[in-house]
Amino acid sequence: MTDSLSIRDNRTGGEEEIAISDDTIRAGDLKKFAVDGERALATYDPGFVNTASCKSAITFIDGDKGILEYRGYPIEQLAENSTFLEVAYLLLNGELPTEDQLATWVDRVTNHTYVHENLKTFMQGFRYDAHPMSMLMSSVAALSSFYPEANQIHDPEVVDLQIIRMIAKMPTLGAFAYRHAQGKPYIYPSNDLSYTANFMSMLWKMSEPVYQADERLVRAMEVLFILHADHEQNASANAVRSIGSTQVDPYSAIAGGIGALYGPLHGGANEAVLKMLRRIGDVANVPDFIEGVKAGNERLMGFGHRVYKNYDPRAKIIKKAVDDVFEVTGVNPQLKIAQELEKIALEDDYFVSRKLYPNVDFYSGLLYEALQFPPEMFTVLFAIGRTPGWLAQWKELINDPEQKIARPKQIYTGHRGRDFVPMDKR
Ligand SMILES: CC(C)(COP(=O)(O)OP(=O)(O)OC[C@H]1O[C@@H](n2cnc3c(N)ncnc32)[C@H](O)[C@@H]1OP(=O)(O)O)[C@@H](O)C(=O)NCCC(=O)NCCS
Repeated sequence: MTDSLSIRDNRTGGEEEIAISDDTIRAGDLKKFAVDGERALATYDPGFVNTASCKSAITFIDGDKGILEYRGYPIEQLAENSTFLEVAYLLLNGELPTEDQLATWVDRVTNHTYVHENLKTFMQGFRYDAHPMSMLMSSVAALSSFYPEANQIHDPEVVDLQIIRMIAKMPTLGAFAYRHAQGKPYIYPSNDLSYTANFMSMLWKMSEPVYQADERLVRAMEVLFILHADHEQNASANAVRSIGSTQVDPYSAIAGGIGALYGPLHGGANEAVLKMLRRIGDVANVPDFIEGVKAGNERLMGFGHRVYKNYDPRAKIIKKAVDDVFEVTGVNPQLKIAQELEKIALEDDYFVSRKLYPNVDFYSGLLYEALQFPPEMFTVLFAIGRTPGWLAQWKELINDPEQKIARPKQIYTGHRGRDFVPMDKR
């Protein structure tokens, strides 16, 4: 077998052989096919459905087999054995940390959880009903004004410090955004708590001297952060890479990633699952609802995935976390509806033949609701978890000699060469 592709251009009769490596061809090689030295051949791929934009060694997904690995480690093992900061270290550095490396890393992150008081004032300036995701996005963008040296992206020490700062400050900003919507005073970080316990303290502490979250809830949240930490070239990672390709500072690039995540097609599906469960209302209504889905009236939200054509490995882990959380909070009636939907759908030929399985959002919304988060906060939690992944993607990009400023081609379909028409002639 030869690793090449022979192509005949029927416009000209020209034949060329193009190299294949990693099961891809280089789009630039198609420029060999041109008509009279012009109209060089290109590819058209809205949404990058079949186009690799980079080489990456961070996250591996096999959607048919339901496999997700960070740096080669299966997500199941990381969710079982690791902490979020350990996973963040792994994503960013490629290897699991030694005990000393982890201690130093956790210590550094913990010492950067505070934000400048002016940033707090900036956040307080938002309207009382501001969406927390909008507040998070804007305050991350504002961080670049506090750390102007962050634009020195070729200085590894500067890069390292910004990575630490961003991972450390995301829970603080997310919690401030949450408290803002509730009209409650912002709570400063408690650096003697773990990353996730500190986040919970900043969310829910009132007058007690120390807020002690239930350890089972802390672990459930930690697992959710781990599950969301990276997902290779998803829309927000692609946004971070695209903005980062201009060599801007990482705060600006990550703010763009948060913007991409804010969109309902990316971070918003778990909220749709909750709305669906509320509408179904009772386990007795599930069969009718499923019939409606099969008749094409609507979709079973939280089922199906562009990449996973098998059980989303993250959904399996979340199911277990859901059990742990409901043990603390008491069972939510919507859980029973979700379980019944899943049971019927996994046996029904409509769903089986289309390879529709529960995805990560099927249970995560229920879990967040059980933790008493309003739906607007769901995407903020996703963003906090995804930050190490965005940063790992960004760091890989700025160190990749093959990367260029992201600047796709277009197929121009508009007018050409028109003469300006004066106002009185239009
Ligand atoms: C995620 C999603 C957008 C992936 O879409 P996709 O890969 O483009 O798949 P398609 O839309 O081509 O669907 C393929 C077939 O399955 C059906 N299908 C896909 N998801 C379905 C769902 N959730 N409920 C019912 N039918 C579904 C489609 O109607 C289509 O059937 P057809 O071949 O008879 O026309 C889609 O599965 C979906 O809308 N899911 C619900 C929303 C959701 O949970 N999103 C979170 C993703 S993490």
